[in-house]
Amino acid sequence: MHYTSKLTYLEQAQQAAGYIQSVTKGEADVLVILGSGLGGFVNELEEAQVISYQSIPFFPISTVEGHSGQLMLGKIKGKFVWVMSGRFHYYEGYELEETVFPLRVLSLLGLKGLIVSNAAGGLNPDFSVGDLMLITDHIDKFPSNALRGKDAMDFGIRFPDMSEPYSQAWIAQAKSEALGLGISLREGTYVGVTGPSLETKAEINYYRTLGGDAVGMSTVPEVIAAQQMGMKVLGFSVITNECIPKNNQSFSHDSVVEVAQQAGRKLQKLIACLV
Ligand code: HPA
Repeated sequence: MHYTSKLTYLEQAQQAAGYIQSVTKGEADVLVILGSGLGGFVNELEEAQVISYQSIPFFPISTVEGHSGQLMLGKIKGKFVWVMSGRFHYYEGYELEETVFPLRVLSLLGLKGLIVSNAAGGLNPDFSVGDLMLITDHIDKFPSNALRGKDAMDFGIRFPDMSEPYSQAWIAQAKSEALGLGISLREGTYVGVTGPSLETKAEINYYRTLGGDAVGMSTVPEVIAAQQMGMKVLGFSVITNECIPKNNQSFSHDSVVEVAQQAGRKLQKLIACLV
């Protein structure tokens, strides 16, 4: 939301939704949020209509390399889906309620399901660079919550249940489609942290001890907002680096984007079967 605007969060979302409705020709039940380097997914879209974030009233603008900043509506196997290429991170300086603003807007347009993807570091020592992990649960290490404050209550209840944020039915379907496509999937718990500094060795051991399998800087706020609005959620991490490298690989944002682009091709095919 824009804090300088006199409109409420809900009114800002309504204006953004009104604009999107005025320039698009279809409706979609599912939104796919693409993580760093996963933009190749847009090649799966037919008849894609592209709306730049800049043109949508009150939309934040993504500032990270590897994130393009476009909302798209396109068809996959005859069904319309929304795609966000470029998401908003807390480490960019946005408040958590701003990072989930696009979901608020699309909920006003009837959104029912969310597929989130992200680039993440592997905490589980069995994981290797390039692995795909189905997110079965998460641990929230953000210092605040996207539902903090009264504005969030215009979109759902105060205390949403989080005992099953990732849809078991959708997870089962993802596993069976992956089998059919010959894609091997890991499963695990995603730890959401603010970043942008990476983890110390002590933090890596701590997150692993807590039960984390992968760590990244996004996804958790979006999943919480989606859950509050009663959406069905599915999540994937691309393991772009091992937090404790087995072969002394060094970490860089470029290598994260590169690995995500490669592994993203498999993920792209899988998500296309799941929307
Ligand atoms: N830590 C946090 N976020 C990340 C990582 C990591 O190792 N890799 C990609 N995103």
